[in-house]
Amino acid sequence: MDGKRRRWPRILGLFSAGLVAIAAIGVAALYLSTNARLERVYPVEVRALAIPRSAEAVERGRHLARIYLCQDCHGEDLGGRVVADIPLTAYLPAGNLTRGRGGVAARYASGDWVRAVLHGLRPDGRPLVFMPSHQMQRMSDDDLAAMVAFIDQVAPVDRSWPPAVVKFGGRLAMVATTQTVLPAERIDHAASRRPPPAASASVAYGEHLATATGCRSCHRLDLSGGAGPPPGGSNLTPGGAMKGWSEADFVRVMRTGRRPDGSTLAASMPRDFGSLTDLELSALWLYFESVPPKASH
Ligand code: HEC
Ligand code: HEC
Repeated sequence: MDGKRRRWPRILGLFSAGLVAIAAIGVAALYLSTNARLERVYPVEVRALAIPRSAEAVERGRHLARIYLCQDCHGEDLGGRVVADIPLTAYLPAGNLTRGRGGVAARYASGDWVRAVLHGLRPDGRPLVFMPSHQMQRMSDDDLAAMVAFIDQVAPVDRSWPPAVVKFGGRLAMVATTQTVLPAERIDHAASRRPPPAASASVAYGEHLATATGCRSCHRLDLSGGAGPPPGGSNLTPGGAMKGWSEADFVRVMRTGRRPDGSTLAASMPRDFGSLTDLELSALWLYFESVPPKASH
């Protein structure tokens, strides 16, 4: 009897030591497999861009940077900001893009911009973390070149950032969820990119803008809504959140954040889209009117 009683603590001790060992092996495997993905070098061929220097190109670049939300993540002065600092999960500074100390503009060749923005890769070919390049696949070379022309001449900001760190929670997300932690993994690096349709008030151009500027990242691929930061993007398909609205109502909500009923949109709908031009908003409206209705997600 006594002997049996003494055995139990020993068996339990062995059992928990076993669990600790299994957990340790699991954590080691998690770090090894995610390290391999974080450190992978993607050998992509990038072309050089001809960067235009005209005042019109800079103005166009200023507009495009705004609607591609560069400032939303890299800061109003483009000197960078921390987009996420979540204990045990990730520390993610979106870097300094300017010509100042610690910025990329002075040291990037034009091909490095292509590699970062369109392939989601650092100059050495390793993947950037959470830089949404997978959503920028429809950006044309001309658009990118105009943005570089704009970024090149913004006031230089001297600000350095430590490297991004993906911690335990972020690594778990990399193996156990469909979250896009490394956009480079979602990109077909060998694909030749289709040129965008001409800028006009057309369904085709609206579809291009909705994809290129990332509406779908929060309003979902089929625009049925419910993705992105809380409360989640609305259903933009016919019969959804904009049921009964006119084009003017849509333009007003995009410019001012106010709905026809007087309510105001949550701050998670980026106000940077207020600078979309009349033509761009018309094209988006035509496109949203043309898509198949979907139940709200
Ligand atoms: C949703 C947020 C987000 C948006 C929008 C965004 N970025 Fe980033 N970007 C990041 C993050 C985060 C990093 C840092 C990734 C890392 O260090 O692994 C980054 C990195 C970069 C880098 C590499 C910087 C370096 O230090 O090597 C460049 C270049 C860049 N972004 C350009 C742009 C441009 C141009 C735009 C607009 C067209 C843009 N980004 C829009 C989040 C964003
Ligand atoms: C970062 C996430 C995000 C992105 C990117 C985004 N939206 Fe939104 N959007 C939201 C959220 C969240 C709401 C709902 C706000 C609320 O419920 O108050 C919203 C609401 C809207 C509404 C108002 C509909 C309603 O609820 O009455 C319109 C119109 C809209 N978005 C259009 C767009 C367009 C067009 C784009 C691309 C150019 C876009 N959004 C990109 C997050 C986003």
